[in-house]
Amino acid sequence: MKALLRERFYLSLLPCLYSIHFCLSATDTITTTYFLRDGDANIASTGGTFEMGFFSPGNSENRYVGMWYKNISVRTVVWIANREAPLISGSGILKVIKPGILVLFNGTNNVVWSTNTSRSLQNPVAQLLNSGNLVVKEAGDDSPGNILWQSFDHPTDTLLAGMKLGKNLVTGREVYLSSWKNEDDPAPGDSTYHCDPSGFPQNILKKGSNVVYRSGPWNGRSFSGTQNSREGPFYTYGVYTSKTEVYFGYKLKSSVRVRLTLSYNGVLQVWTWSDGDQGWVPFLLIPGDSCDMYKLCGAYGSCNSQDSPECGCLDKFMPNNSDAWKRRDWSGGCARRTELNCLQGDVFLKYSHVKLPDTRNSWSNVTMTLEECKNICAKNCSCMAYSNSDILNGGSGCLLWFQDLLDIRQGPNGGQDIYIRMAASESGRSGCSGNYKMNYNSGNCSEEFEIPLFDLSTIAKATNNFSIDRQIGEGGFGPVYKGILEGQEIAVKRLSRTSTQGETEFTNEVIYNVKLKHRNLVKILGCCIEGEEKMLIYEYLPNGSLDSFIFDDAQSKVLDWPKRFHIINGIARGLMYLHQDSQLRIIHRDLKANNILLDKDMNPKISDFGIAKLCEENDIGAKTNRVVGTYGYLSPEYALHGRYSVKSDVFSFGILILEIVSGKSNRRFSHPDHNLLGHAWKLYKEGRSIELLDEYLRNSCSTPHVERSICVGLLCVQECPEDRPSMSTVVMMLNNEGVLPKAKRPGGLLNFFFFLHPVRAPRLTIPSPCSSGELLDLLLLHFVLQAPGLTIPSPCSSGRLLDLLLLHPVLQAGSWTCNFFTLFFRRAPGLPFFFTLFFRRAPELPFSSQCSSGRLLDFLFIHPVLQAGSWTFFFFTLFFWRVHDRDPSSDVVTMLLALTEV
Ligand SMILES: *[C@@H]1O[C@H](CO)[C@@H](O)[C@H](O)[C@H]1NC(C)=O
Ligand SMILES: *[C@@H]1O[C@H](CO)[C@@H](O)[C@H](O)[C@H]1NC(C)=O
Ligand SMILES: *[C@@H]1O[C@H](CO)[C@@H](O)[C@H](O)[C@H]1NC(C)=O
Ligand SMILES: *[C@@H]1O[C@H](CO)[C@@H](O)[C@H](O)[C@H]1NC(C)=O
Ligand SMILES: *[C@@H]1O[C@H](CO)[C@@H](O)[C@H](O)[C@H]1NC(C)=O
Ligand SMILES: *[C@@H]1O[C@H](CO)[C@@H](O)[C@H](O)[C@H]1NC(C)=O
Ligand SMILES: *[C@@H]1O[C@H](CO)[C@@H](O)[C@H](O)[C@H]1NC(C)=O
Ligand SMILES: *[C@@H]1O[C@H](CO)[C@@H](O)[C@H](O)[C@H]1NC(C)=O
Repeated sequence: MKALLRERFYLSLLPCLYSIHFCLSATDTITTTYFLRDGDANIASTGGTFEMGFFSPGNSENRYVGMWYKNISVRTVVWIANREAPLISGSGILKVIKPGILVLFNGTNNVVWSTNTSRSLQNPVAQLLNSGNLVVKEAGDDSPGNILWQSFDHPTDTLLAGMKLGKNLVTGREVYLSSWKNEDDPAPGDSTYHCDPSGFPQNILKKGSNVVYRSGPWNGRSFSGTQNSREGPFYTYGVYTSKTEVYFGYKLKSSVRVRLTLSYNGVLQVWTWSDGDQGWVPFLLIPGDSCDMYKLCGAYGSCNSQDSPECGCLDKFMPNNSDAWKRRDWSGGCARRTELNCLQGDVFLKYSHVKLPDTRNSWSNVTMTLEECKNICAKNCSCMAYSNSDILNGGSGCLLWFQDLLDIRQGPNGGQDIYIRMAASESGRSGCSGNYKMNYNSGNCSEEFEIPLFDLSTIAKATNNFSIDRQIGEGGFGPVYKGILEGQEIAVKRLSRTSTQGETEFTNEVIYNVKLKHRNLVKILGCCIEGEEKMLIYEYLPNGSLDSFIFDDAQSKVLDWPKRFHIINGIARGLMYLHQDSQLRIIHRDLKANNILLDKDMNPKISDFGIAKLCEENDIGAKTNRVVGTYGYLSPEYALHGRYSVKSDVFSFGILILEIVSGKSNRRFSHPDHNLLGHAWKLYKEGRSIELLDEYLRNSCSTPHVERSICVGLLCVQECPEDRPSMSTVVMMLNNEGVLPKAKRPGGLLNFFFFLHPVRAPRLTIPSPCSSGELLDLLLLHFVLQAPGLTIPSPCSSGRLLDLLLLHPVLQAGSWTCNFFTLFFRRAPGLPFFFTLFFRRAPELPFSSQCSSGRLLDFLFIHPVLQAGSWTFFFFTLFFWRVHDRDPSSDVVTMLLALTEV
């Protein structure tokens, strides 16, 4: 085949020797006298890039006049003249005839296909240019303006560099790609690719009359939503707009062959030719992912292929049909959670990194500024959104949408800003709903709520310009001030700009506070959002937080036992309301003494809903990768596995009871071998519960309910969540005289277990977290996993080791380290390697005789094998602290967590 082609090439060159003129015509031009005949020589462009001739595609026997790359080993057809009118025999002739048309005749001289003309020429010729354009023109007239007809205006399935895909605004003619029917039939198939100028230009891929993909409008740099710049390595591309035409096209930057094709199965591909591979390399593929499917997520839905499921609603929108949405039928799209009210004044909220919605019905003005754009949109109630039409140089131009916004993608990269019309109450400036991202599975979150909004100036005045002497507290979120507003005392929680409490937490808190009304919950009076400032205004509770009483030697005397019991009961009722009785069913997740505030009558009020979570319907629990809360109060299943449920709150409540009874903080409780929990458990088992009571209270004569409270506390902190009572049971148990069940062993006896986090221990799986002792197994397992070369036959065989370690009275601080390792070795007799290393590396260590702590750990720290895992380091560091009778301070914990970050 190749040989044959070459032969033909030389044959066609032959006449050049005799006539220059004839030569040029013969190689790239058809004239009224020189025809392209099936079976004869092909014509080829000067420069040798393309050639034209007759061919049969695939397995078809039909003959077509086609154009393909001349100098590559793979026949790649880029254009076909008679794609709809095949010749069924091999005797076609392509001629140029007066007044200037190309005509394809079959063997019996019938016209099979022809071009058109509105003018007539003296001496028409058809020339194949090196760009792949076949042009009909007057012989010798090379002016592009005088071309009568060109194949670039009639593309098939291939867009070559220099072609214009788009619309002539004067004649109304549209140039678009259409796929072949199939491999054997180049007749137009279902798929077409257009540069659609209606509204604002964007490219559109259609199957039949349905849009299946949309590039997004051209924003001056790229198609909105793609990250590609117009500058590629091989070509530059863009959408070009003038008074007379709008088109998409590209230009080559190198000699690399590039083509854009629309395959018969509707896939758009950019290809580059590789000389090395002697083949076409796909450079770009569209559709690229499910989010490329046109309006997959419906109106106001937002597609993100990184998410699962990929469809979500834009912020502040809700599924229009939530049942269908749950079934992954997103076609109904989303609707604003608060309806618009144009007459009362809507606002526009900015959404970033958005692939702009369908612009086919948009209005545009490319010279307007964003401000002018906004003003126009604001004036017309049916204007739904606006944005810059061009993002270059800081943005310019105006795009307006008057219908529902369709086919939006959002992602961390790419995209641009769009401003969407929203009800005024959705705006930070005139309402408090903020940026609350709804969880579609969590029931109704749609009810509107209104809370009073205060000006920054009002609050500044009320708090004496946030003066330092008005500050009454400081949380992780920022300072809390006392103020006086209209004669009423208020507390102002000011979210500091560097706060770890993000917008979600802030909004959570607003929403929950507004919806929750109970005498044991702190009441919110309003909020204030201005610029970067976010503040919550609460009722002022003069007695501050519970921890300032119970953990303070002097203040604790204020709270006698009846008051403490009253407080325990109040918290229990507040929590019961959250868990069971409120509309929302909420898990607080950060219950602790300093989140309990006391009013002037020492009534407790639960505060700080920043990290609360809605309970999911039909489900008492959920899992999170982000464990938040306060160490010392976290239930083991939450701290270790990120599993939280109402029972995690119950656990924290149990700790709170023990703290209120004992006047000791679980976090700061210092005892050689256990924390407050362990201490309470020990006393309880020995029947000496009453000794847990705050020393100061032991003298008072009336202490009913103390042992009952301790027992309830211990029931609440049992290791297995299912064993813990619900809050309604707790309330009942506290207030009745009935016999209480016997508490089982508490979970979380060691404080440092509370830091362990599933993300940091990815290989961790425990069959049942409720069987005692597995925490240690897990530690040993990890220890071994992280220290290559060590093996333990069956590391998870029993939990006795931990029981021994924790509960055996013989084990005391001084002997901890030693005994731990003795047991460890005994437990794992198959550890000769470790043993040998141990003694070889540390010959001076008098292991058998002494149980002095410290040196063993020092050794472990420097041991290279053990250092392999930061986990080991982590564990032993904590262990070390414990041995030295100290609780790691929170910054040490932070440091350690940072160290263990992979
Ligand atoms: C044809 O291709 C070969 C190798 O790919 C190259 O060396 C040669 O210059 C090309 N000729 C033309 C006319 O492009
Ligand atoms: C040429 O086309 C005419 C009309 O379509 C048809 O009748 C005739 O058979 C064709 N001749 C050949 C050789 O295909
Ligand atoms: C030729 O042009 C006329 C008028 O411009 C048009 O009606 C006709 O359909 C065209 N024919 C072809 C084959 O393009
Ligand atoms: C929501 O659904 C209703 C009825 O199914 C429909 O009329 C309305 O247009 C939809 N809203 C949006 C934004 O799609
Ligand atoms: C576009 O906006 C500019 C500046 O605001 C204005 O002068 C011009 O008339 C507008 N053009 C159209 C078509 O509205
Ligand atoms: C709002 O815009 C729509 C669409 O451009 C237009 O039909 C309507 O007349 C405009 N309404 C007003 C009050 O300008
Ligand atoms: C959600 O709210 C709607 C209307 O307020 C109500 O009809 C529906 O029953 C509610 N659904 C749930 C799960 O509460
Ligand atoms: C608060 O600050 C503002 C501006 O900084 C100042 O004008 C005003 O007098 C201050 N008010 C008080 C009560 O200090």
